[in-house]
Amino acid sequence: MDVLRTDCLVIGGGLAGSAYALYAAEAGLDVTLLSLGGSLEANSDWAQGGIIYDTAENPELLATDILEASGGTANPAAVRQLVTNGAEAVRELLLDELQVGFDRDQAGELELTREGGHSARRIIHARDRTGHAILSAVAGRVDATPRVTRYTQSTAIDLLTLSHNDDNPEDRYAPLTCFGAYALLDDYPEPVAVVAKKTVLACGGLGQIYQHSTNHPGIVGHGVAMAYRVGGRLIDLEYVQFHPTVFYGKNAPRFLITEALRGEGAVLVNLRGEPFMDAVHERGSLAPRDIVSRAIHEELSNSGEPCVYLDLGALARSGLPDRFPTVYERCLEHGVDITRDLIPVVPAAHYSCGGIHTDLDGRTSILHLGAIGETACTGLHGANRLASTSLLECLTGARATAQADARDIAALDFRLPEPRPWLSPPEQSDPTLIHQDLNLVQQTMWNYAGIVRSPRRLTRARRILLELREEIQSFYRDCRVTRELVELRNAVQTALLVVHAASLNPRSRGAHYIVDE
Ligand code: SIN
Repeated sequence: MDVLRTDCLVIGGGLAGSAYALYAAEAGLDVTLLSLGGSLEANSDWAQGGIIYDTAENPELLATDILEASGGTANPAAVRQLVTNGAEAVRELLLDELQVGFDRDQAGELELTREGGHSARRIIHARDRTGHAILSAVAGRVDATPRVTRYTQSTAIDLLTLSHNDDNPEDRYAPLTCFGAYALLDDYPEPVAVVAKKTVLACGGLGQIYQHSTNHPGIVGHGVAMAYRVGGRLIDLEYVQFHPTVFYGKNAPRFLITEALRGEGAVLVNLRGEPFMDAVHERGSLAPRDIVSRAIHEELSNSGEPCVYLDLGALARSGLPDRFPTVYERCLEHGVDITRDLIPVVPAAHYSCGGIHTDLDGRTSILHLGAIGETACTGLHGANRLASTSLLECLTGARATAQADARDIAALDFRLPEPRPWLSPPEQSDPTLIHQDLNLVQQTMWNYAGIVRSPRRLTRARRILLELREEIQSFYRDCRVTRELVELRNAVQTALLVVHAASLNPRSRGAHYIVDE
């Protein structure tokens, strides 16, 4: 087995992982970065709306909006970290250093928009391609940084811990300590071990465990599943946020219709053209996401219709293709001209507010294992995330974690043993079975653990998923590991963890809504 050695192993090349790589390299550390796909294949690249840049003298207003969106459940210390450090992180890295092309007005000032749950305009954007503009600048800089080695098309399989993967029997009695991961790396025919002083999970969320999702293919909670298998503490996994407005077309794929459209005045209406959100919340179509998604779900259950609509009548129609090019082009591909037509929309799984528990320096319950971005849970979002906080959290979390890791690496001794070799079973896995099983996970989650849950539905989901996990474990044991098999194994595990968390929480709050049926 090949063994690679590095200071920091970062699993995930979205904004959190890429920013961490930059900050850590800046601090003098060598970084190995694994991206699931190419350097831009990540959820961050698909983020449309924007990133909060709150330069208000009083950050309390933003803190209040985050807390309010979370239904009072967010961790105040995490909220404080974001509102205190956020603007500086954006200014230093994105505006001054990388000069990301955010939209500006004629006077050269940054244009500010708003989204659901925001009481002020404080979101900067690059048309509706904000994530792409940010990630391409950050990833471009990562790829020009000699201390960072990136492996694209690469997947971590399992974490290495002293208790599980080295041969010293005494290590079983030491605190759980991570020292890297087994991984499938592009260019290596067999799994390799990447041994690292610090391992950081930045694997994004878990949206693809649901049938309908805004997430990139393959985003199935890899970090959560890997951390779980070695005993890491997970938290708040029942709080899966559904984005209220995802394109609906009979044979069309689901894709995000940014909330910034509602920030600029678009209104949700039903088939009869009635703006049903006004009766639900004082902010109407701009209410926090959990409330809007549930209201749509209710509207659809009552009417039997397949979708509701976004009415863009209040916006200057002729400017839409320029301000929202992604939405314009993608809708047009499916026969909807947003300069004229209503946009048919439904909710879809979007963001995991929970994840691997960390402190504010990205430390998990396992020594030398960090987690950042959507994979982590500092409690910033509580039960429901405020729009446009996620890209910002990637930056602030990555910076705090890289700085803390650099301090640790300078101060501590690390024991980095030779890991046990990976043993590859002989059989090949069957792609048809893998595909079918993943579909079954996604359908089960959508039908029984979605926007509205009940104890009975969750019990059904649990039974199906437990049986499926048995099947999957058995061919995982017998077959050569592939990226698809890793994905399926992690998907079923993450799905079970979400169902388990939802079953244990009888109280409806934020993105977790449970009825007694
Ligand atoms: C959107 O543009 O609506 C998504 C932004 C986010 O999830 O924060």
